[in-house]
Amino acid sequence: MENLTIVEHPLVQHKLTKMRKKDTPTNHFRQLLREISLLLAYEITRNLNMSEVNVETPLEEFQAPTLDGKKLALISILRAGNGLLDGVLDLIPSARVGFVGLYRDEKTLKPVQYYFKVPGELSERVVITLDPMLATGNSASAAIDLLKGAGAKTIRFLCLLAAPEGVKTLSAAHPDVPIVTAALDRQLNDIGYIMPGLGDAGDRMFGTK
Ligand code: URA
Repeated sequence: MENLTIVEHPLVQHKLTKMRKKDTPTNHFRQLLREISLLLAYEITRNLNMSEVNVETPLEEFQAPTLDGKKLALISILRAGNGLLDGVLDLIPSARVGFVGLYRDEKTLKPVQYYFKVPGELSERVVITLDPMLATGNSASAAIDLLKGAGAKTIRFLCLLAAPEGVKTLSAAHPDVPIVTAALDRQLNDIGYIMPGLGDAGDRMFGTK
């Protein structure tokens, strides 16, 4: 799984353990997700391109490092991706934001697009796709198909939990897309939930059932 980075930082792992507990209330779950997503965003932006600018400090001028290129694009896969968005924006407030809405067709079981709104000049931006649960990998792969169709060339995928099945599917469909996650869990169950997982991420962050 060479595309996969697991962030083993103690703070990430401690917060994730709290999120997994079934009795963690909605407000804590949401807050923990916001905190973890900031830490995961730190990791996924580790190797952004840099250039130099001339800076005058109170003491002298020098060439200082700065981020190169256009503002990043954060793409939330609705609805659970929105749970990662705020924490990533806390770290990268100037990022542009887009949304991809997909539902699963009951007959074909394939993802169908119902919403797609992304920032312009996608081909010139580093695009970070957000979805907390990489389960089957089908919606992630479909979302990235759409982003590539819209011109995106440099895409990364940020999730909280991944299943081996999802990593395999996404990496096979998009070998150029690095995946960053807090944990690689054991497997999917027969209804597509990640085990041991944390349940339905959308329901847990929004208090729906
Ligand atoms: N989506 C979720 O919210 N949870 C899972 O375990 C799998 C997909």
